[in-house]
Formats: sequence, structure tokens, C-alpha cells
Amino acid sequence: MRLLVTLSLAIFILCLKGKTAGTANVSSNKKDNDIKLASSTSNCSVSQCNVFPNDENIYISSSTLYFDYRTLNNSSYCAPNIPCSILEPCNNITYECASSTSVCIINSCCSPQAVCLLLSLTNLYKSGWSNGSSIDTARDSHTASILTNGNILITGGYNNSVLNSAQVYNLANETWTNTGNMNSVRYHHTESILKNGKVLVTGGNNGTNQLNSAELYDSSTQTWMLINSMKAAREFHTATTLTNGKVLVTGGYNNAELYDPSTGNWTMTGNINHERYSHRASVLLDGNVLISGGNDGENILKSAELYDTSKGTWTLINDMNTAREYHTITILADGKVLVIGGHNGIVYLNSAELYDPSSKTWTMTYNMNTPRIRHTASLLPNGKVLVTGGNNDNIYLNTTEIYQTS
Ligand SMILES: *[C@@H]1O[C@H](CO)[C@@H](O)[C@H](O)[C@H]1NC(C)=O
Ligand SMILES: *[C@@H]1O[C@H](CO)[C@@H](O)[C@H](O)[C@H]1NC(C)=O
Ligand SMILES: *[C@@H]1O[C@H](CO)[C@@H](O)[C@H](O)[C@H]1NC(C)=O
Ligand SMILES: *[C@@H]1O[C@H](CO)[C@@H](O)[C@H](O)[C@H]1NC(C)=O
Ligand SMILES: *[C@@H]1O[C@H](CO)[C@@H](O)[C@H](O)[C@H]1NC(C)=O
Ligand SMILES: *[C@@H]1O[C@H](CO)[C@@H](O)[C@H](O)[C@H]1NC(C)=O
Ligand SMILES: *[C@@H]1O[C@H](CO)[C@@H](O)[C@H](O)[C@H]1NC(C)=O
Ligand SMILES: *[C@@H]1O[C@H](CO)[C@@H](O)[C@H](O)[C@H]1NC(C)=O
Ligand SMILES: *[C@@H]1O[C@H](CO)[C@@H](O)[C@H](O)[C@H]1NC(C)=O
Ligand SMILES: *[C@@H]1O[C@H](CO)[C@@H](O)[C@H](O)[C@H]1NC(C)=O
Ligand SMILES: *[C@@H]1O[C@H](CO)[C@@H](O)[C@H](O)[C@H]1NC(C)=O
Repeated sequence: MRLLVTLSLAIFILCLKGKTAGTANVSSNKKDNDIKLASSTSNCSVSQCNVFPNDENIYISSSTLYFDYRTLNNSSYCAPNIPCSILEPCNNITYECASSTSVCIINSCCSPQAVCLLLSLTNLYKSGWSNGSSIDTARDSHTASILTNGNILITGGYNNSVLNSAQVYNLANETWTNTGNMNSVRYHHTESILKNGKVLVTGGNNGTNQLNSAELYDSSTQTWMLINSMKAAREFHTATTLTNGKVLVTGGYNNAELYDPSTGNWTMTGNINHERYSHRASVLLDGNVLISGGNDGENILKSAELYDTSKGTWTLINDMNTAREYHTITILADGKVLVIGGHNGIVYLNSAELYDPSSKTWTMTYNMNTPRIRHTASLLPNGKVLVTGGNNDNIYLNTTEIYQTS
């Protein structure tokens, strides 16, 4: 993201200095329209390229315009508008660039001459999903949270039996190692990192009963300890650590409760508007809590609500594009909210959407390689998002995928 901002800024500044081959008089940003470049004196046109190959709608709503630049042998490179002023001409006989970090483009519209396109600009296009290393046990309905050292702890879940095992993703070498088992087997439970670095796991189901029990994980000893139980047994609920350190537990029912790590007590708080389960929740950068989707017993929900942490009240906000349950919500480093996968009542979803808290709008983004429900998604300290396991079409998954925005 920082790279994108830096590049955007660089491009913006360069645009001010010289003519550019893309910002000129774009009459339509619809897919496959040729763009006639008003700034160019040459007889040329350059097509927009498909930024999001899997979804036209995303392309149309994308604010950055990308163009399809071609080499002499007609290889395609998709990159944002090129500021002509910074482009070195290529060798006009061999059509080569002096630097291996550039490629020679013949349709830049900058001049009749071929010019060298920085390959780093084309990397912007390579945002999206890639495969990560597999977890030990295929599982769904498990949980994940980020430990204070940046590693990720996944717990429990289901693979035809209920699991108490836990694994840690080591950020440094991108591999998984086993850690201590929970006291109870659980799925449909929650996992939250407390301000003191310990990990709170609440409720879920052990295969026969909904659970009100809760446990704390200490990563220094890799051990689990049972603590005070919640007021209500819950599964398909959410638990979110607030900026004040308390943990907000919502759903299963429309009531919500708070865990105070300093006292170890559970207390009830304001009720949500739309009773739901299998929804997801996350704390926005402003400290308020977004919940989205889920199931009210009759319908899979598109709706989303915001919890005002200071007032303890809930407000409905714009709906997501897609109704989803068993999806995930991840807050990205820039404050946007990435919603991934789930089920809309008909199909398993590989689609993903972004919520922008400043404009309060939802837009589609890249699709995952594999549709997933009941997976986990965690923002890594490097800005990428790690998705683990889940279920696709009744198959438990041990695969993981990594989302990168730039
Ligand atoms: C853009 O095109 C319109 C007509 O299509 C023209 O009136 C306008 O002057 C053009 N603007 C620039 C900056 O070339
Ligand atoms: C522009 O190029 C096209 C095809 O290469 C050609 O048909 C057309 O005559 C050219 N127009 C001008 C004004 O050179
Ligand atoms: C086409 O050109 C690009 C760079 O100019 C090169 O990387 C690629 O291998 C070429 N492809 C073919 C099929 O020659
Ligand atoms: C270059 O490739 C595109 C498809 O990517 C094709 O439509 C076009 O005809 C090709 N041009 C040449 C000169 O081969
Ligand atoms: C090739 O480039 C040189 C300068 O770099 C220029 O003098 C020459 O006219 C060009 N040749 C052609 C055929 O464009
Ligand atoms: C990523 O994983 C999917 C399914 O697990 C597989 O189909 C695909 O080939 C993998 N991609 C790469 C680049 O390994
Ligand atoms: C993941 O599951 C596949 C079968 O679905 C299996 O072939 C593979 O060995 C598993 N990977 C790991 C790391 O357990
Ligand atoms: C489920 O996980 C347990 C514990 O890792 C393992 O022993 C069992 O074989 C797994 N079952 C299936 C169906 O994958
Ligand atoms: C990855 O790092 C962890 C923690 O440092 C270590 O225990 C594990 O052996 C490493 N795995 C590999 C494959 O290097
Ligand atoms: C599930 O939890 C209930 C209530 O705590 C307990 O009585 C039961 O033995 C547990 N079952 C399993 C399989 O752990
Ligand atoms: C915690 O709960 C207990 C029992 O309900 C109560 O006696 C105690 O006052 C509570 N502590 C705080 C700090 O609220």
C-alpha cells in the first residue's frame, strides 16, 4: 500500500511536469474502450486493460486507469498511465532497454518512438491472491488471531470431528508449527488477542453442546487455561477486542456482552438491531466495531452495522454487495475493511469486497483462487492478508492464500 501511494504520488508529480499517456481525455472508463489520447500528437490509441479479470463491475468502479502496453512481439503489459517525460527511448534497432527493470513498449503514444516501461509499474497489476503453505489439519470453523510477535495462532475447528489442536504461523519463514492444545475441543468459537498479549477463546460447540466456557492462551508457555465462563453459551458469535481493552461478544443472540480482562468479569451491553449468527465483526481504526452479514434464521444477510464503542449503541450502515455468512472481515492497514468468501445461500463464494469507512461504500475486489467458508483471515504485519483452511463444497481445506494490495 505504501508502495502504491508512493508510486501514485510519483506519477502525479511527474504528470505535472510532462504530458502523460493515459490521463488525457478519457471519455469512458468502461472495459475495452480504446482511449484516444488527446495529449498525443501521434496517431495512436491505447486500450484499457482488465484490472480485475474476474469481474467487470470491479473494473468499472476502479479509480485507477490501467492501460495495455505492447512490446514489438505483442506481449502485453498492464500498467497505469505512463508519464512520457520519464521514459527513456528504447534502442530503435534492437528494441531493447538498457535496464533489465524496463521493457520496450511500442504503443506508449508518447512519441512515434518505442519507449522503456518500468516493470515496477506493472507490478501494481499483480495485486491479488497467491497460495501460502498448508496447515497440518484440514479444518473449518476454526479461528485465528495475530500474536504480539506477528505470528498467527489458529485454534480448533472441525474436520468431521471437533478439534482442540492449535498451530502457529511463523511469519519469518512462512511455515506452521504445532502449539499446545485447548482444554476443550471447539468449533464455531471465537479467538481474540488481548492488550496483554494473551489470547481469549470463547464458546463454540464441542460436538454435543454449545459452550459458555472461555480459555486464555499464553504464548510464552504455549499453554491454555480455563477462565470465567460467559453469561450465555454461544456459537456462531463474534468477539472483538475494543480499544479500551474490553472484549465485545455479539450474536448467537441479539444480546451482547463485554469481557473485562482487568477484572475477569462478563457484563451485558447494548443489543444489536438485526439478530444474527454466523456474521463477522472487526474493530475499525476509529475504535468502532463493524459487523456484517450472517444469518437471521430465515435469510443470509447483506446488512452491516456499526457499534459505537463510546455510546454502546448499534447503527445500520450500507449493505454489502453480496449476502454472506461464514465469511471473514479483516481491517487493512489503510483502514479499509476486506470481506472474504462465505456462502450466499446458493454457492460457496470466492469473491471479496472492500468497505471504505470514509465513503461508507462497498466495492468488489480480487477473487480468491478457491471459494471458502468458515475460513480465517488475518492481516499480517507486512500488510498482506493470510487466509487459512475453511471448506469448499463440503471439502475441508488445508490450503492457505495470501492477499496483497500492492
Ligand atoms: C476533451 O475532449 C473534449 C471533447 O470530447 C474537448 O472539448 C476538451 O477540450 C478535451 N479536453 C482536453 C484537455 O483535451
Ligand atoms: C492512423 O493509423 C491508421 C491505422 O494504422 C490509418 O488507417 C490512418 O490513416 C492513420 N491516420 C492518420 C491521420 O495518420
Ligand atoms: C516478447 O518480448 C518480451 C520482452 O520484450 C520477452 O520477455 C518475451 O520472452 C518475448 N516473447 C516471445 C514469445 O518472444
Ligand atoms: C496482439 O495480441 C492481441 C491479443 O492480445 C491481438 O488481438 C492482436 O491482434 C495482436 N496483434 C498482432 C499484431 O499480432
Ligand atoms: C533511431 O534513434 C536515433 C537516435 O536515438 C535517431 O537518430 C534515428 O533517426 C532513429 N532511427 C529511426 C529509424 O527512427
Ligand atoms: C494455488 O492453489 C490452487 C488450489 O489449491 C491450485 O489450483 C493452483 O494451481 C495453485 N496455484 C499455484 C500458482 O500454485
Ligand atoms: C493437504 O491435503 C492434501 C489432500 O487434500 C494432501 O495431499 C496434502 O498432503 C495436505 N498437506 C499437508 C501439509 O498436510
Ligand atoms: C482430523 O484431525 C485429526 C487431528 O489432526 C486427525 O487425526 C484426523 O485424521 C482428521 N480427520 C480428517 C477426516 O481429516
Ligand atoms: C520456522 O520458524 C520456527 C520458529 O522460529 C521454527 O520453529 C521452525 O522450525 C521453522 N521452520 C522451518 C521450516 O524453518
Ligand atoms: C461438551 O460440553 C458439555 C458441557 O460442558 C460436556 O458435558 C460434554 O461432556 C462435552 N462433550 C465433549 C465431547 O467434550
Ligand atoms: C466482578 O463480578 C463479581 C461477581 O459478579 C462482583 O462481585 C465484582 O464486584 C465484579 N467486579 C467488578 C470490578 O465489577
